[in-house]
Amino acid sequence: ECSSTLCKDVECQNGGTCVTDTVDTYICLCQLGKIGKHCEQEVTVHIPSFNGTSYLTYPGFGNTKLSYLEIEVVFRPKSTDGLIIYDALKTDTTGDFVSLSMSNGYLEFRFDCGTGPAIVRSINKVDLDEWHTAVISRTGLEGILELDSLPAVRDKAEGAFTQTSFKTDLYIGGHSNWDEVAKYASIKSSFVGDIQKVVVNDRLIDLVEDALTGVNIDNADHPCIGSPCLYNGECIPHHDVYMCDCHIGYNASNCEKEILFPDDATEIKFLGRSYVQMTHPDILK
Ligand SMILES: *[C@@H]1O[C@H](CO)[C@@H](O)[C@H](O)[C@H]1NC(C)=O
Ligand SMILES: *[C@@H]1O[C@H](CO)[C@@H](O)[C@H](O)[C@H]1NC(C)=O
Repeated sequence: ECSSTLCKDVECQNGGTCVTDTVDTYICLCQLGKIGKHCEQEVTVHIPSFNGTSYLTYPGFGNTKLSYLEIEVVFRPKSTDGLIIYDALKTDTTGDFVSLSMSNGYLEFRFDCGTGPAIVRSINKVDLDEWHTAVISRTGLEGILELDSLPAVRDKAEGAFTQTSFKTDLYIGGHSNWDEVAKYASIKSSFVGDIQKVVVNDRLIDLVEDALTGVNIDNADHPCIGSPCLYNGECIPHHDVYMCDCHIGYNASNCEKEILFPDDATEIKFLGRSYVQMTHPDILK
C-alpha cells in the first residue's frame, strides 16, 4: 500500500506506463523505440537488448494443432535466470505451453501438451556474456534441446496428447503479466541480455519489424548497431561478427566497392546469397 501513490507524480513520456518496482521505486515501461528513466530517449533498435524489465510480443504460433515445432534462437545471456521464449494456449497458468528460459544458469526448454510438462535442461551451465545458438524442437511428446555444438538433450512428456495448441501472443524476453504464465514453466523473471535471431519452423522473425509490442528494448552492443554496411546495405549479425548484404552496384565486405555495369551488360553474376527483385510494371505483367 505504501507504493500505491508512487506513480501519481511520475510522468513517463511517449506513451510509457509507470509501474511500481519495489515499495519506494518505480520504473517506466517504455514503448518500442523509446528508452530512458522516463522514456525520454529515442532509439532505433537493430538487435534487441533486454534489461530485466523488457519484453517483445509477436503473433502466437496459432491454434492449429501442432505436432511439430522447431525454434532456433541466438542469444547472449547476462544473468542466470530469465524467460527467453514463451507461448501458451491459456492465461490461467494451466494447459499447453512452450517455454525456453535461463534457469539457475542452465538453459531450460519446457513444454506441455496438456497432460504434464517435459523439462529438457542443458548438460552444462551456459556461459554468460557470450553468444549461443540453441535449437529446440518438439515432435509429439519428445523434446530435444541442442545448445551450440554440444550433444543434444532429450526428454519426454507424459500422457496421451501429442499436439499443442496456442492462443496467446508469442513473448520474447519476458511477459506482461506473470500471473498468466503456466505454472509448469516455473519462471517469473525476465531475460537480461541480447537476442539477435529467432527462427520458428524455418521462418525468420524480424525481431523489430514483426513485433506487436515492445517494452524497454534497447540496442545490444554489436558492430551492426553502427550500420557498417555502406549505401544502405543490410547488416546480418552472426554472433560477434556480421556480414553485409549489399545493394546492387556495391560489393566487398562493407559494400564499399562500387561495381559499374557497362551499358551493354546483359548478364549478372550471383554469389550464392544474391537475388534481384524485378519491380518494373511491364515485367510484372
Ligand atoms: C531498463 O530500462 C528502462 C527503460 O530504459 C529503465 O527505466 C530501467 O531503469 C532499466 N532497468 C534496469 C534494471 O536497468
Ligand atoms: C564481390 O565480392 C565477392 C566476395 O567478396 C567476390 O567473390 C566477387 O568477385 C566480387 N565481385 C566483383 C564484381 O567485384
